[in-house]
Amino acid sequence: MPPMIEIRNLTKRFGPFTAVDNVSFQVDRGEVLGFLGPNGAGKSTTMKMLTGFLHPTSGSAQVCGHDILEAPLEAKKVIGYLPEGAPLYPDMTPRTFLEFIAEVRGFSGAEKTRRVDDVIAKVNIANVASQRIETLSKGFKRRVGLAQAILHDPQVLVLDEPTDGLDPNQKHEVRNLIRAMAKEKVIVLSTHILEEVEAVCSRTIIIARGKVVIDCTPAELAARSRYHNAVTVSVAPDKANAARQGLAQLDGVQSIEDLPSKNGSTQFVLIPKPKRSIAVEVGQKVREARWEVDELRVENGRLDEVFRELTQTTSSN
Ligand SMILES: Nc1ncnc2c1ncn2[C@@H]1O[C@H](COP(=O)(O)OP(=O)(O)OP(=O)(O)O)[C@@H](O)[C@H]1O
Ligand SMILES: [Mg+2]
Repeated sequence: MPPMIEIRNLTKRFGPFTAVDNVSFQVDRGEVLGFLGPNGAGKSTTMKMLTGFLHPTSGSAQVCGHDILEAPLEAKKVIGYLPEGAPLYPDMTPRTFLEFIAEVRGFSGAEKTRRVDDVIAKVNIANVASQRIETLSKGFKRRVGLAQAILHDPQVLVLDEPTDGLDPNQKHEVRNLIRAMAKEKVIVLSTHILEEVEAVCSRTIIIARGKVVIDCTPAELAARSRYHNAVTVSVAPDKANAARQGLAQLDGVQSIEDLPSKNGSTQFVLIPKPKRSIAVEVGQKVREARWEVDELRVENGRLDEVFRELTQTTSSN
């Protein structure tokens, strides 16, 4: 079986400017691929080429074995695409817009009504389904866009910043929806929200200046942070100096960073040497020394720090 998505050497130039530079990757069923990168990195441009909305300068994109340039109709049948920004047709209501999309997708009669009702419920827009799209708030417009992307139950979903502009409750709902759909689809989404990557993605590609700079799991990404396995210690101020000095001498500890005090406790972070886990030795030392420690917290790593490190040297625009 071919991979669900196969992108090979995809390149897009606008005049002398290269927006997407020789990008290649494959995505298989069950994967939720998070596309990260600074503004202007080339995420939307790549998604537009993958979904057949923009012609590449060179390279190819195949979806479920259909080449987007050679077999665009077959490819578009299996793709649901949420573009950036608001949906078109501001004069329509969500319901008439979705009925129109359903007809374009080849549904009629009871099947059309069932599909439209179904997506209206899924993205929670029943209350505004009869209001003109241009009068909807940003988040509701976004949900209408998402509804049209999933209406035909496509095997491949390409979502350009699906939670942009949504309130925290709706972000949560949409992430749950994505997770539920991920079981039977392949999903590629772009986002600027790093916690979203940890919440829904099984894999991350970071792109900067049109180039892929890393392709790994969110956990592997977090493990590149110098705060991976770092231990935050909260201790009574009168024991702070002793604790700081004692813990700094532990074999696995590379350095200590002070934090602002919290609820009357002194706080600092113990940074481990590369690839070391220090939680056990820190816990043992604290018990032996009988310092009154309020909290010991092990960190996973900080994605924002890794993101900056990977993208700043090649930062876009
Ligand atoms: N039609 C166009 N003509 C000229 N330049 C373009 C065109 N479309 C995109 N670009 C440029 O290509 C680069 C990549 O844009 P793209 O929209 O793919 O970035 P992005 O990663 O989606 O950014 P964002 O996070 O801001 O959405 C940008 O520098 C953009 O200005
Ligand atoms: Mg974009």
